[in-house]
Amino acid sequence: MDDPLEQLEQLGFVWIRDAPADREQAFEAARALVDAREGVDGPAGLSLVGDFLLPPGDGEQSRAFQTLHFDFGVPLDPKVEVDVGRYTALHIPSRFGRVSAVTRLVPLTALLTQRGWCPQTELLARFSEYGKTHGAWNDDHGYIEGSLARIVEAAAGRPALPSVKIEAGFLCGMEFETLASELRFFERHSLSIDESAVEVSLGPGELLVFDNLAVAHGRRGTRQPGELHQWVFGECGAGIARQRELRDRVLAAFRAPASDQVVTEAPA
Ligand SMILES: [Fe+2]
Repeated sequence: MDDPLEQLEQLGFVWIRDAPADREQAFEAARALVDAREGVDGPAGLSLVGDFLLPPGDGEQSRAFQTLHFDFGVPLDPKVEVDVGRYTALHIPSRFGRVSAVTRLVPLTALLTQRGWCPQTELLARFSEYGKTHGAWNDDHGYIEGSLARIVEAAAGRPALPSVKIEAGFLCGMEFETLASELRFFERHSLSIDESAVEVSLGPGELLVFDNLAVAHGRRGTRQPGELHQWVFGECGAGIARQRELRDRVLAAFRAPASDQVVTEAPA
């Protein structure tokens, strides 16, 4: 499969090793891929909703691990218009020095079909309940969740992570201290990250584009200031109906093919 567009479509991501060296040209290459995938006149027309240099050029190196997440989050219980991230592009400047961090990609279908789940109506009820106790800062704004671990424990109906609503000062994304503790968390939910993850050692001059709602992403290793350009293409001010549509695409991954839908859990 040599065609980048075909890879993005079938795998949910594409790693382009001979990307343009120049930042602007790399951006245009990512933009062209996303436009080709979605069509420039798609349902909402995708816009650039995020443009970051990570870590900032004048900042500090990142911590050694980033938990699995979705940029801009998944609108699990939408109540107001929000921007939804649809595709993320990562590019490392061609003249950047040594890179040690690795991007972790976890295709949702590969992960979530490892076990059974309850029916969708029950899933939605569980997300709504979890949002009230653990997720949303303001219930009037609905519940958007960025953490894959939180989505999994909400779906399983077994909340164990600290509540960002109740625990003052808890920072989203800090659910786990280490990669090992994150892996153990998923194992307790009968999910093996190792069996489904793809690791991308993105190097200088390379470009990675992935479907932000089909593939959760994270990092192992540390990034140096100015290492990574990140662009998020998404839907600006997506309405509630549209957010539900996008959410339901994510929820489709919870339906195990040919499964008897028996919910299997490891002991807590
Ligand atoms: Fe991210």
